[in-house]
Amino acid sequence: MPVRPIITVDGPSGGGKSTAASGVARALGWFHLDTGAMYRAVAWKSLRAGLTPSAARRLGALARQARLTLRLDARRRLRVMLDGRDVTSVIRTAAVSARASEIAVIPAVRRALVAAQRRIGRRGRVVAEGRDTGTVVFPAAAWKFYVTASVPVRARRRWRDLRRAGATLTYAQVLHALRARDRRDTRRADSPLRRAAGAIVVDTSRRTPRQTIQTLLRCLKHHPIALPWRGPGVKVR
Ligand code: DC
Repeated sequence: MPVRPIITVDGPSGGGKSTAASGVARALGWFHLDTGAMYRAVAWKSLRAGLTPSAARRLGALARQARLTLRLDARRRLRVMLDGRDVTSVIRTAAVSARASEIAVIPAVRRALVAAQRRIGRRGRVVAEGRDTGTVVFPAAAWKFYVTASVPVRARRRWRDLRRAGATLTYAQVLHALRARDRRDTRRADSPLRRAAGAIVVDTSRRTPRQTIQTLLRCLKHHPIALPWRGPGVKVR
């Protein structure tokens, strides 16, 4: 399989992979493919349609028919569009997080979204972020990372983010939900979360977002396959 100009960033929830992937994409001038946002968008749509996770066939059809686009706005922030509507912020609630992890176990949903992700990946210069981007979606990616942190650190980050967004959940509730999500994401039969062979593990427990991004960029610089597609503004120290 020829090596593809794609970087994959996988890891559990709250590990810092979004910050890492978007920061690296921005530094390189590459496209940030947030695959979690796609599962979230389908989850949001399923909640609105009143479909429970047991309706596997209908959820598969819903995922296939969803008109889903990811684009960057003028300030280079990712916007998620579903059927012509901007769902960027409504897909970030605790309810959608839980439902996304539930529908992500359904093979028909995964097939539909993986096909869409590969279509986006064909253009190259993509930083793909998710749970299975290095193992299943882009196994021939040239650079692979597994970004994680300790469970308490990840729960605290999630708690902080949710509170900022106006949610009133306790830390204990967030920790409980995170553990449940970890279990589902790592134990499902189809494409469970795991480190891809050859992926570089980055533990962000004691790193600031900026340090995490710098760590990934440094790894890319010293990687056996040099980055041939340097975008504008790459600072690799
Ligand atoms: O990264 P995130 O928290 O936005 O992802 C939401 C859910 O989607 C996560 O619990 C598992 C699922 N997901 C997945 O199964 N595969 C991916 N490539 C990305 C996300």
